[in-house]
Amino acid sequence: MENYKERNGLKVLFDEGQIKKRVNELGKEISRDYKDCSGLEVICVLKGAFVFMSDLLRSIDIPASVNFIRASSYVRTKSSGKVKISGLSDVSLRGKDVLIVEDIADTGLTLLKIKQKIIKKFKVKSVKTAVFLDKEERRKADFKADYRCFKIPDKFVVGYGLDYDEKYRELPFLAEYKE
Ligand code: IMP
Ligand code: MG
Repeated sequence: MENYKERNGLKVLFDEGQIKKRVNELGKEISRDYKDCSGLEVICVLKGAFVFMSDLLRSIDIPASVNFIRASSYVRTKSSGKVKISGLSDVSLRGKDVLIVEDIADTGLTLLKIKQKIIKKFKVKSVKTAVFLDKEERRKADFKADYRCFKIPDKFVVGYGLDYDEKYRELPFLAEYKE
């Protein structure tokens, strides 16, 4: 792994152990908040959130089901500002407690749009959001995540599901990427 990092000029921000610890803490917090919930409906936003969601889900101690939706707005390292969402027509969320799980809140446009779409389309019981990372200072939309693992500065990051041009999703750590 050491060689890989050096070859690709990646600077580690959070290693595997730090991520594991924090995701477990968040899972415990969510389990406490939803302790009376009979079934949580997790919506995983592809592709970036698949790693975080699978770890988070296993640290949550309440019954849950999972659905996957797709959102895309990024071209390489820049947000295009236009968010495309697909996959919501196949799910049924009526009367459910919904937890949207996403890799990162950057401008906040993606999560705001997903949340609004879910509220408009289904009579949900509740809807909250959990993000692995929060780049708060980049926010353009009026969006605040209910749960987050780490707040990070305005840097482009890869690993633990996050990509640069579809690369680096498989890395078990989070690293800063410099073009
Ligand atoms: P937002 O709509 O601007 O909040 O963008 C959210 C999406 O942008 C995330 O789901 C990511 O796919 C992508 N994104 C934002 N910042 C980064 C980053 O630093 N690395 C990788 N993807 C990012
Ligand atoms: Mg994404």
